[in-house]
Amino acid sequence: MKKNVPLIIGNWKLNPVTLSEAASLASGVVTKLKKETEALVVVAPSFIHLQEVKKKISKSLIELAAQDVYSKNIGAHTGEVSILQLKDLGVSMVIVGHSERRAMGETNKEVCQKVVTILAQKITPVVCVGESERDDQGNFFTFVEEQLRSLSEVLDTTQIKKVVIAYEPIWAIGTGNTATNEDVKEMQLFIETVLTKLYDRNTAKKVKLIYGGSVKAHNAAELYKEGGMSGFLVGGASLKAEEFSEIVKACK
Ligand code: 13P
Repeated sequence: MKKNVPLIIGNWKLNPVTLSEAASLASGVVTKLKKETEALVVVAPSFIHLQEVKKKISKSLIELAAQDVYSKNIGAHTGEVSILQLKDLGVSMVIVGHSERRAMGETNKEVCQKVVTILAQKITPVVCVGESERDDQGNFFTFVEEQLRSLSEVLDTTQIKKVVIAYEPIWAIGTGNTATNEDVKEMQLFIETVLTKLYDRNTAKKVKLIYGGSVKAHNAAELYKEGGMSGFLVGGASLKAEEFSEIVKACK
């Protein structure tokens, strides 16, 4: 994953309700970003909308991501979706360990299993890390470090370079409480330091880091310039084609 190409992923979460709304959101994004060639733009609809969205983006440079995956590829696993199925639909990235899934009980261990399964199919995992709250003692750094350490227990240097790490502090998600440019910059440096410790400096520099948490059209340019991350994971603002495209264009 090239570090100098900005990566902007729209995580649509459990939105919208209908297939036709999803299709028209995808078409809107395509229209607004027709001329965009500098950034890698990715949309992550619900599983059930993947196929239709793929059709809408197929003639553009926009790529498709899933919001989660199961760690097993096939078999008796009622209600699950496998990486082989996602690959067949043309998904190129999968978000894993989103805090909204971790809140439902997903552990670091499960996240790691999913990452290994995804990488085995040559698809890019976007692994979310981030603390629920900040404290003056800086315990939140230890929390993020632990999430990264668990990845290092299953991924070697070649593999970690193929992973995107999305720093998404939970307190910033859907709250309008965007992390400050300084917070983001500090975390970018911290994650690189931890990856240097766990791997080596060269490897750490190659892992793509993005930020998520109340990224909007009005704060994206500064966050991108000052925050030191290579792009964004966007929730709410990705549901409006116009605002999402402005965020993409702000990543210069
Ligand atoms: P918001 O942009 O709505 O804060 O959501 C961020 C997020 O969780 C993306 O995965």
